[in-house]
Amino acid sequence: MSSELLDVTGAVGNRLAAPAAGARSAGNTGGGTANTGVQVANVSKSFGPEGAKTLVLDDVSLSIHAGEFVSVIGPSGCGKSTLLKVIAGLSDADDGAVTIDGKTVASATKGKMIGLVPQSPALLPWRTVLENVTLPITVNPKANAGRTLRDPQEILESFGLGHAINKYPSQLSGGMQQRAAIARAFVFDPSVLLMDEPFSALDEMNRDQQRLGLLDFWQTNRKTVLFVTHSVPEAIMLSDRIIVMAAHPGRIADVIDVDLPRPRDADVYATDEFRDLEGAVRTSLQSVMEKKYV
Ligand SMILES: Nc1ncnc2c1ncn2[C@@H]1O[C@H](COP(=O)(O)OP(=O)(O)OP(=O)(O)O)[C@@H](O)[C@H]1O
Ligand SMILES: [Mg+2]
Repeated sequence: MSSELLDVTGAVGNRLAAPAAGARSAGNTGGGTANTGVQVANVSKSFGPEGAKTLVLDDVSLSIHAGEFVSVIGPSGCGKSTLLKVIAGLSDADDGAVTIDGKTVASATKGKMIGLVPQSPALLPWRTVLENVTLPITVNPKANAGRTLRDPQEILESFGLGHAINKYPSQLSGGMQQRAAIARAFVFDPSVLLMDEPFSALDEMNRDQQRLGLLDFWQTNRKTVLFVTHSVPEAIMLSDRIIVMAAHPGRIADVIDVDLPRPRDADVYATDEFRDLEGAVRTSLQSVMEKKYV
C-alpha cells in the first residue's frame, strides 16, 4: 500500500493560506465521509519468524479526534514508527483495526486522506522544489481527477519558500527541505497527518523555529495529527494530548492532557503551566524506563 510522503513545518510567521475556494477546509475527506478522526482499536503487531516472534505493539488503542494534535513519545524501539506505519497503511497489523474518518486505511490511502511525514524530507535531488511538490499530482492525473488539490506554488509561498521554487534540494538548508516536503504533502489537502520525528535531524535552534512554524501553520489550518517525537518540550508545545509509550512490548503507558490555551507561541515555554507539564511528562517517561515492561 502506498501513502503520500510529506513533511511538516512552516517558517515562523509564514501562515499557510486557507485552501482555495472550492477546497474542503476540513481536509480531503475522500467523498463525503464524516470527519471522525483516527480510531486505533486493539492493534497488535509482531515481527520475526514463526516461533520466535517479538511482540512490538501490544493491544494498542487510541482515538484522535478530528482536528486534534496528539504526540507520541517513548523510548527508542517501543514501536512508535511501527504504530505510525500501521495507521498509514505501510504495514499491516496482526490484530485490531484502524479507521480514518470512518474509512478503512486502504480506502483512506486511496482517497489521499493520509499524509505521512518521514524523518528525512525524501525529496528527489534531481527535481527542483516546485517539481518535487508538483510530483504527486502529476504522477497519476487520471486518478486525481475530481480531487481537491491545492496550488503547489501557493503552498510553497505560504511556507516561505517562494524564493526557492526553482532551486534543487541540495541548495536548501535542512529546515527549508523539511518545509518543502511538508508543502508537497499538502497538495492533496489530507485530513490526517502522521509525522515521524520530522525535526530530529535539525539543530536545536532550527528545530524550535520549525516547530513554531508548524504550530503557526496548524493553528490556521487544522488537521488531525499524530506526531512522533523524542522531545518533551516539542510534544507539549504542539499537542492537545501526549501519549507515552513503553517498550517490550510497545504499549500505551500514559496519556497526558496538555490544556495550555491556544493559540500558543514561544512565550508559552516560560510559563509555570508549561514547566509543570514538562515535569509530568518527564516523570511519566522515567517511570516507563524504570518499569521496563518485560
Ligand atoms: N520491519 C521490521 N522487521 C523486524 N523488526 C522490526 C521491523 N520494524 C521494526 N522492528 C522492531 O520493532 C521494534 C519497534 O521499532 P520502531 O521502529 O517502531 O521503534 P521506535 O519506537 O520508532 O524507535 P525509535 O525511537 O528508535 O525510532 C524495534 O525493536 C525494531 O527493531
Ligand atoms: Mg521510530
